[in-house]
Amino acid sequence: MAGDTALGRHKAKACAACHGIDGVAKMPHVPNIAGESTIYLEKQLKAFRSGERHDPMMSIIAEGLSDDDIANVSAWYAAIKIEVTLPE
Ligand code: HEC
Repeated sequence: MAGDTALGRHKAKACAACHGIDGVAKMPHVPNIAGESTIYLEKQLKAFRSGERHDPMMSIIAEGLSDDDIANVSAWYAAIKIEVTLPE
C-alpha cells in the first residue's frame, strides 16, 4: 500500500533533527534522503529495523517504526523534489 505523505510529514518530526524535515542532512555523517525512491527508503528502514543494516542511531529509531510508519515517512521524503547542479 502506498504511504500517506501527510501522516509521513508528521512522523518525520522524529527524523528532522538529523535528516531535516526537507530530507537535507543537518550533520556531515548523516545522508540526505530527500527524493530517494520509496522502494529504497522502505528497504533501508526495514533493514535497520531487522538488524540486517546496523547503525547506532538508525537502528534505535527504526525499532520504533511500524510498517505503516515506514510507508508514510518514505512517501514523505520521496515526494520532496530535488534539483541538482553539476560542477563546472
Ligand atoms: C540521531 C540522528 C538520526 C535520526 C533522528 C534519524 N536518522 Fe536516519 N540516519 C542517521 C544516520 C547517522 C544514518 C547513516 C547510517 C549509516 O551510516 O549506515 C541514517 C540513515 C538513514 C537512512 C538510509 C539512507 C541511505 O541513503 O542509505 C534512511 C532511509 C533514514 N536514515 C531514515 C530516517 C527516518 C525515516 C528517520 C525518522 C523516523 C530517521 N532516519 C531518523 C541518523 C538519524
